[in-house]
Amino acid sequence: MPWENKKFNDGNSIPGIGFGTWKIPVGETTTGQVDQAISVGFSHIDTAQAYRNEAEAGKAIRESGLPREDIFVTTKYSGLGGLDIETSIKDSLNKLNLTYVDLYLIHHPKLAVPDIPTAWARMEALKERGLVKSIGVSNFTVKDVEILLASAKIPPAVNQIMLQPYNYAEQASLLEFSAKHGIVIEAYSPLLPLTQYPGGPVDKPVKAAATRLGGVPEEQVLLAWAKAKGAVVLTTSSKKARLEGYINAGDLVLTKEEIQAIDGAGAKGPPGCTFSMFSASKNSGSTARKLIYRTGSLALLAGLVLTMRVYFGVGMDIM
Ligand SMILES: NC(=O)c1ccc[n+]([C@@H]2O[C@H](COP(=O)([O-])OP(=O)(O)OC[C@H]3O[C@@H](n4cnc5c(N)ncnc54)[C@H](OP(=O)(O)O)[C@@H]3O)[C@@H](O)[C@H]2O)c1
Repeated sequence: MPWENKKFNDGNSIPGIGFGTWKIPVGETTTGQVDQAISVGFSHIDTAQAYRNEAEAGKAIRESGLPREDIFVTTKYSGLGGLDIETSIKDSLNKLNLTYVDLYLIHHPKLAVPDIPTAWARMEALKERGLVKSIGVSNFTVKDVEILLASAKIPPAVNQIMLQPYNYAEQASLLEFSAKHGIVIEAYSPLLPLTQYPGGPVDKPVKAAATRLGGVPEEQVLLAWAKAKGAVVLTTSSKKARLEGYINAGDLVLTKEEIQAIDGAGAKGPPGCTFSMFSASKNSGSTARKLIYRTGSLALLAGLVLTMRVYFGVGMDIM
């Protein structure tokens, strides 16, 4: 049975794969893409205040004609416009044109203002009032979750984090901690080795598994890998055929050896690991080269900051 539902610690359940709406250009495109995803079998849609496409996603959900309980909708508190949590969820529900969402997340620990315990108590109040069925967090570290759990009445149902072979080693302790506390991990950007780091060490074991599985596309192997780590998988595509493949990937089972080979390759890091490349400047001896390396490092850092600001929305100041 592909992409089995996962049970939350509050008794609700979440479909094992979700269609994400980040990066879809604002406007009708989101409606078309969510509609396409639902038509191929996705029943779990992930959006956020920061994506500025909740209204378009909601339109596709309504137009699907599916009963509300047959579709799982997540949105996130992204601190957009400096709005508080309660105002934000009401605003999101208005935009989605829904009376509740299935899952509401604090998008990033830096958005938990004035502090994690206070922000979490506000999330708990939303669940108690029925505006959201389940509550969770995103991009929280073990330390952030520990702070939250120390005063929580309701533990988070999920932690939505980046999980792909190149960051698995650094996320492994969070995965273990989450399993111990009954917190479901949602893996976003599982296809990063293909989208950002083609040509890296992970390609070889992924290709080998794809061949062994009868020549399936490599992205399906990466989705199967994330599933094997026990995560709910969040992905996206503008292409219908690829989306159908994602759904089929729920049937793929990687061997223990294949998973170990992908983990091992991921631990080597992505190709041209930028920070270690720039750290070589310490021994370069040339002032001009040092200057180039430093300028490169600054440009890289600025790029990362810009990406985060674009992702969360220009109005937010989390950096
Ligand atoms: N909570 C957070 O902070 C956070 C952060 C990031 C993402 N997310 C959520 O997670 C969702 C998924 O994130 P993501 O977009 O980073 O996921 P992803 O699954 O890693 O990447 C999806 C992209 O991969 C491309 N792709 C698929 N197969 C490929 C291949 N063989 N070669 C090259 N490209 C390929 C697709 O392009 P095509 O359209 O061409 O198929 C699509 O744009 C987001 O939409 C969002 O809902 C949450």
